[in-house]
Amino acid sequence: MPPPINHRTGGVYRIVPVDEDFTGGAAAIEAIVECCNQPLIYDLLFAERCAGVPYSGSDAAGFLDWCRAGWREGTHFPFLLCDAGGTIVGAMDIKSAERPTAEIGYWLSADHSGVMTNAVRILATIAGHAGYRGLHALVRPGNDRSRGVLDRAGFRPAGRAERGGNVYDRFALALE
Ligand SMILES: CC(C)(COP(=O)(O)OP(=O)(O)OC[C@H]1O[C@@H](n2cnc3c(N)ncnc32)[C@H](O)[C@@H]1OP(=O)(O)O)[C@@H](O)C(=O)NCCC(=O)NCCS
Repeated sequence: MPPPINHRTGGVYRIVPVDEDFTGGAAAIEAIVECCNQPLIYDLLFAERCAGVPYSGSDAAGFLDWCRAGWREGTHFPFLLCDAGGTIVGAMDIKSAERPTAEIGYWLSADHSGVMTNAVRILATIAGHAGYRGLHALVRPGNDRSRGVLDRAGFRPAGRAERGGNVYDRFALALE
């Protein structure tokens, strides 16, 4: 699989499955905490579940445990995105083993903007090889950056969905 390249900088990244072999240690926790407290990511993905309290080291440790459990039990499939120096700068996941189509999610440090479209394209290839026939994502209305990622990666509008009292725009991609 070719590595994802940052469209803006040409930087080369690595997609790492967070399975039982993943050993990130304290540096992994620190990098995840740093990313998840960035306003763009925190406000959208963590403010509600953290009840306004900053995303902590124990949140990151819990996240890594959840990632490993997903691969171990075959229920969900998270990946980290690392820069050329090996620092964690983002994450993506396939949220279920359900076929034919599964939901994906992602976040990326604002300092590395420009790589997520290409990373999602590679995630789609990985999913196709794993037997998925489609992927979809739920995006809050107004999240134009995420919408742009999906649009450039070939996802198309596919109605609306409701979850936890919030309404989302749904985008779907058919895989060969
Ligand atoms: C959404 C998010 C992942 C976007 O990451 P990103 O790396 O900035 O997204 P992209 O890869 O699309 O890169 C953005 C820029 O690079 C350009 N780009 C990237 N890959 C490109 C490609 N292959 N071809 C053309 N342009 C490309 C885009 O046009 C865009 O440029 P612009 O800002 O001048 O319009 C990030 O903002 C984020 O984590 N947000 C908070 C969490 C979130 O919203 N998660 C999704 C929940 S549904």
